[in-house]
Amino acid sequence: MKKDEILKIDRNHIWHPFTQMKDYEGMDHIVITRGKGVKLYDIDNNYYYDTVSSWWTNIFGHNNKHINHKIRSQLNSLDHVIFAGMTHPYAVRVVELLRNFLPEKLSRFFFSDNGSTAVEVAIKMAFQYWQNIGRVEKTKFVFFENSYHGDTIGAVSVGGIDLYHKLYKPLMFNSYQIRSPKCYNCIFSKQKMTLNADNGCNAECMDQLEKVLEENNGNIAGVIIEPLIQCAAGMNVYNGIVLKKIRELCDRYEVLLIFDEVATGFGRTGKMFAFEHVDVLPDIICLSKGLTGGYLPLALTVTTEEIYSAFYDDYFSYKTFFHGHSYTANPISCSAAIGTLENFIKKPIAKYKSGMIYFNEKVCSLKDEPYVGDVRYIGFIGAIDIVNPYTGKSYPEKERVGFQIYKESLKNNLILRPLGDTIYWLLPITVKKKDIDNIFLKTKKTINNVLERYTWLKN
Ligand SMILES: Cc1ncc(COP(=O)(O)O)c(C=O)c1O
Repeated sequence: MKKDEILKIDRNHIWHPFTQMKDYEGMDHIVITRGKGVKLYDIDNNYYYDTVSSWWTNIFGHNNKHINHKIRSQLNSLDHVIFAGMTHPYAVRVVELLRNFLPEKLSRFFFSDNGSTAVEVAIKMAFQYWQNIGRVEKTKFVFFENSYHGDTIGAVSVGGIDLYHKLYKPLMFNSYQIRSPKCYNCIFSKQKMTLNADNGCNAECMDQLEKVLEENNGNIAGVIIEPLIQCAAGMNVYNGIVLKKIRELCDRYEVLLIFDEVATGFGRTGKMFAFEHVDVLPDIICLSKGLTGGYLPLALTVTTEEIYSAFYDDYFSYKTFFHGHSYTANPISCSAAIGTLENFIKKPIAKYKSGMIYFNEKVCSLKDEPYVGDVRYIGFIGAIDIVNPYTGKSYPEKERVGFQIYKESLKNNLILRPLGDTIYWLLPITVKKKDIDNIFLKTKKTINNVLERYTWLKN
């Protein structure tokens, strides 16, 4: 198909996700036809740095040789098969490989097909666990302000971003929202930190969680959190001590702890999983996105034998977990996951450290730019808040500075997808220093070009 034909059908018939289609209509549309490493190429052969790893999924860059090979050979054997009452070697191999990276305690694997379903499964599993063991009053969930766990109604019910979630309130089940850790603007006046740095923090911000659990623990089934970094919140990196405190509180008040590692898993934070930075284990973990290296939809909700055994009984006890999706454990997706995990076995995440440190230094170096408010980073994720260089304050929301930066980035061979006025990079772990240099040069150029248009906002 020619570019014009593609765009005509796209404009007339396709409704894009997370997109105000009126904005989209007014843009120069890019038709991506191929990818290699950290770059995507359009139909006219222009390149774009994929600094968002194609919605946080891509791990080894596009067109990874080993994953390609795994998918190709899978096509010669099995396309798909019902996963209720059947199994196949491809799902089994995923589990076998993943067990090399997960702690012994997390030993039961439930497949589904995207991040939101991994969360739905976790919520229903935690809920039913308490039902099955006779603690029927434990039905509610606790989640954090600005958290994001996906777009299905269960995931939305434990989501804390008003822009995405508030409208759907009448559809949601009731949950307890509590204050999230905000280390870059600590309300307890602790020094800014990254990770476990000792800045005198004792996770004081979890006092609200403690209160909610104390007052309602009889009816709380679980707490769900994105460990160490709330990504959609604007890459809110927080102190690992907070996770230790949450684990301690969940144990004290008999509440299940769910880690949503959909975005943070598979090397993104510099370790295979974010929880490894702090050595705190959840009762249930949600995995997706990077599980297939960014190739195909697949997800896992992994839990303990203790939770699993609460569902194991005679049929007429009605303790079965009645949940499943048509494409559960799709063999082609499993093969992409096998390729991904084998890549991690051949070259462990620790071996990517020098690129990561180089990237972290680049992010830090932006601190001195007049338009940068806060700087945050962990592993291969970095973010800056854009502020008005004249006043040091945020730009008025109606100026949509982040959106202007997005549009400008496309003119500079870059895909930036700011969250509000927070610019972030979430890079594949294989990114080369030369590409990091280019990405930062182009980012600075993009931001400067846009902010020049706002000199009238000097006061
Ligand atoms: C932490 C987290 N959980 C869940 C999801 C939902 O994943 P999906 O978009 O695959 O449904 C996302 C997506 O960005 C996420 O960041």
